[in-house]
Amino acid sequence: MLNIALPKGRLADKTCLALTEKGYNVSPVEKGDRRLVFTDSDNGIRYFLVKPSDVAIYVERGVADIGVVGKDILLEYRPDVYELMDMNMGVCRLAVAGKKDFRDDTDRPLRIATKFVNVTRNYYAGLNRDIEIIKLNGSIELAPLLGMSDVIVDIVETGTTLKENDMCVLQEIVPISARLIANKASYKFKKDVIDELVRRLKEKND
Ligand code: PRP
Repeated sequence: MLNIALPKGRLADKTCLALTEKGYNVSPVEKGDRRLVFTDSDNGIRYFLVKPSDVAIYVERGVADIGVVGKDILLEYRPDVYELMDMNMGVCRLAVAGKKDFRDDTDRPLRIATKFVNVTRNYYAGLNRDIEIIKLNGSIELAPLLGMSDVIVDIVETGTTLKENDMCVLQEIVPISARLIANKASYKFKKDVIDELVRRLKEKND
């Protein structure tokens, strides 16, 4: 049995579509079933539905053999896993954003609201810019609007959230997309099954 950690939320539909197109049965997710574990016995797969930012934890600990996770999470937490393929979905970017009239005052540390503390720290270390990080867990765009931070470091997908809050991208940090990852030991012991799944996922659709 191959154990796969699937992300809930915005990546879920895209991941399920990719798997269904290749003949895997993820119908409980498509039907909005609330079960967190389900089995596709024909293909010998057990699925776990996991919060996107936790997928890498399940895979790193070997509870799941493989999983689908955003590159943003991999960059932030650097889990000790193999990155097997770019799924070419969930395409977005990590960027610095702020109010349209933002002007940087280099005489003082830049206050940055973000979920991505490590990525932010590394990025500004490379620029030699002093910063103060304000760690938030969601609705990051609110921080500059209320004057709590100067800018944010966050995911930008369509840009709608920024636009509707009179903000804009100031610098792009890195492009992001969903990746298929594998536990290192699983990849040794279940290599054939995992390689077969990767091969099927990479096959072009007719
Ligand atoms: C993400 C991200 C932005 C938004 C960007 O938030 O943090 O707020 O999506 O998408 P857009 O460019 O298409 O508008 P998410 O909806 O995941 O919720 P969060 O605020 O809880 O992080």
